[in-house]
Amino acid sequence: MTIEEAPYAQNTPADESLKRVRIRHFRRAKQQGIKITGLTSYDFLSASIFDRAGIDFLLVGDSAGNAVFGYDTTLPVTNDELIPLCRAVVRAVRRALVVADLPFGSYEVGPDEALHTAIRFMKETGAHAVKLEGGVRSATQIEAIVRAGIPVMAHIGFTPQSEHGLGGHLIQGRGEGAQALLEDAHAVEQAGAFAVVLEMVPSGVAQQVTEQLTIPTISVGAGPHCDGQLMVWTDWAGFTTGRIPRFVKQYAQIAQVLHDAAVSYREDVESGTYPAPEHEYE
Ligand code: KIV
Repeated sequence: MTIEEAPYAQNTPADESLKRVRIRHFRRAKQQGIKITGLTSYDFLSASIFDRAGIDFLLVGDSAGNAVFGYDTTLPVTNDELIPLCRAVVRAVRRALVVADLPFGSYEVGPDEALHTAIRFMKETGAHAVKLEGGVRSATQIEAIVRAGIPVMAHIGFTPQSEHGLGGHLIQGRGEGAQALLEDAHAVEQAGAFAVVLEMVPSGVAQQVTEQLTIPTISVGAGPHCDGQLMVWTDWAGFTTGRIPRFVKQYAQIAQVLHDAAVSYREDVESGTYPAPEHEYE
């Protein structure tokens, strides 16, 4: 069963009965024990494929900083870089809920700045929700955005925009850190978030959070007890080269497929095998 009780496997772009995933479906999914599936997406073609495959939500993540723009971290990503990607993803989907990630530097100053940025993303991209990082420290920002009628997905645990403050890519919520993580989780629920991403958190702590909250928890390396899972699509599809986090399961090897195709193409051009007669115009 899907989170909006529509048999998505039968949905095609022409299927008029197709229902959009809404934030109310997230809460219902948790109540009914139906797992929620998310992927990041940064472009029209991948978003269309994921939408038709029944992925429940697509995050236009600031991980585009690494995957699309080639930065070392997500810190340099700007609103102006993310907005066109988000628009493309929104244009592609018919069913999935699209979540726009608010980049570093676009909401930390306070609730007014956060609301201004969230409104800009909603107005200029057509996204259905926004995501921002931080628990207790971002609660007033979440409250202001939610009060304006904009759904917020929160993000706690390892928050990549704070990687320097956190001292690197480190598991969060271990030992005494578990209490702070629980406080963050309750703060974002209290502030009105409709779901919360837990990134790189021990499974046992994520289970505790999941049991204590009424909003769904979405795991990015937080184990099997969360209400849903999210992966960066380029890691998940084997498109990313270099180090892949331990929690990622690769479902394809796109980089190898593209590499092999590019080598075959080059060899065909060099040998004169491409173009063949069927590729020519009379
Ligand atoms: O930008 C992103 O892809 C994210 C996820 C890793 C949660 O924030």
